[in-house]
Amino acid sequence: MTDAAPGASADLDRFVDGLDYPMFIVTTAHGTRRAGCLVGFATQASIDPPRLLVCLSVNNHTHHVAQRASTFAVHALASDQQDLAALLSSATGNKSGVVV
Ligand SMILES: Cc1cc2nc3c(=O)[nH]c(=O)nc-3n(C[C@H](O)[C@H](O)[C@H](O)COP(=O)(O)O)c2cc1C
Repeated sequence: MTDAAPGASADLDRFVDGLDYPMFIVTTAHGTRRAGCLVGFATQASIDPPRLLVCLSVNNHTHHVAQRASTFAVHALASDQQDLAALLSSATGNKSGVVV
């Protein structure tokens, strides 16, 4: 459910479809729990201090683990790593066997 104006979603889709922005994989771990997912909503948010803003959905397993973790890594994806992007965006939770 959204409060956006009628048609706003289609307008945004058209706008975003024309963009070519980078994709990232975020990985994190807490104890024996490991997690990772594809992230497109990320951007440098400050130069000094140096800050990278990464948006993680509360619905994602990765968010769950990250809340308890002390380590959080952001990996840049190359344009030929579409298989990895698809794998890390298509399932929640167990992605065992994936080596980033
Ligand atoms: C193009 C694309 C971009 C995405 N960007 C984000 C993002 O910025 N943040 C996020 O939390 N999920 C994003 N997702 C969704 C997660 O990658 C996806 O839900 C993933 O399976 C979550 O895995 P997890 O539940 O194991 O953490 C994106 C998915 C796609 C296809």
